[in-house]
Amino acid sequence: MSDKQIDEVSGVETTGHEWDGIKELNNPLPRWWLWTFYGTIVFAIGYTIAYPAWPLISSATSGLLGYSSRADLDASLASAKAAQGDLVAQVEARPVAEILGDETLARFARAGGKSAFKVYCSQCHGSGAQGAAGYPNLNDDEWIWGGTADQIYATIAHGVRSNTDTDTHFNLMPNFGTEGLLTPEQIDLTAKQVASLSGIEGGEATTEGGQLFTENCAACHGDTGLGNSELGGPSLADPIWLYGNTLETIRAQVERPRHGVMPAWSNKLGDATIKQLAVYVHSLGGGQ
Ligand code: HEC
Ligand code: HEC
Repeated sequence: MSDKQIDEVSGVETTGHEWDGIKELNNPLPRWWLWTFYGTIVFAIGYTIAYPAWPLISSATSGLLGYSSRADLDASLASAKAAQGDLVAQVEARPVAEILGDETLARFARAGGKSAFKVYCSQCHGSGAQGAAGYPNLNDDEWIWGGTADQIYATIAHGVRSNTDTDTHFNLMPNFGTEGLLTPEQIDLTAKQVASLSGIEGGEATTEGGQLFTENCAACHGDTGLGNSELGGPSLADPIWLYGNTLETIRAQVERPRHGVMPAWSNKLGDATIKQLAVYVHSLGGGQ
């Protein structure tokens, strides 16, 4: 300690230690660093007293504050459940159109409807609601029975030609062929008339065909073939077809019509689920 001195080159005091003529400069740690270091020690001690920290044989010290991450998880699960219960009750209490106007509620309903759709609807309408022959695509904006949220709700709740629901949508296209309402030549002319509306190969608009259409078909399919969602008569003037897009499939439907059946769900699913399904289907892109 005796030979502390000022180093000539750096101007810093030496510690007095010297090895073979090499001297050690005395550069103490900066104050702020030292106090921060002490601070972390104090914090760590405080933390291990307040919170669970030290492992014991079968558990751990529990800490003075009594915090536990498991209890924390339980609490947030319980509050998420309570919040969801509240949303389900709101969906149940409000009409579909009103649910659509409430962004939080609509988002919740869409998500619920999407998973219910996978379970109850995808076997007929496809997992992406894209449909198949005889089962309508629910992504497009052609609606046999109407595409407002309330109309979609009614279709899902009561079905189409369901024999278990008295409020079901019901309308049957007449058997023009097998019941002899039209002659084969007349059927041929109307089928060609219909095919001409959307440019299908073999289609041909004729005066007689147009007249037959007005007399026999316009009541359900509209004067210009654009459909009638009150009666469930699909549009015949666009490229979207339930039963096929050829002159042959059109003729077949006039001769011996098929009558699609969609089950009614009001007696199987709760109202909240049906509303969620309606919101989901409405959101697929074609909702009006
Ligand atoms: C057994 C088969 C089947 C199942 C299951 C089914 N559907 Fe349908 N769905 C149909 C058929 C067939 C039609 C067309 C009815 C018609 O010809 O008018 C239809 C029509 C619809 C329509 C009306 C489409 C329009 O253009 O107006 C909606 C909406 C619909 N289904 C939604 C659903 C939802 C939601 C579910 C699940 C809860 C479901 N469907 C389950 C067969 C089914
Ligand atoms: C009483 C009402 C009614 C009348 C009248 C009627 N239709 Fe229909 N038509 C329907 C209904 C309902 C459907 C849908 C059937 C289904 O959903 O399964 C349909 C379906 C069709 C389809 C199949 C559409 C598709 O997307 O595949 C064609 C084609 C058709 N009708 C042509 C005609 C022609 C042509 C006439 C006149 C000769 C006619 N319809 C008269 C009610 C009617």
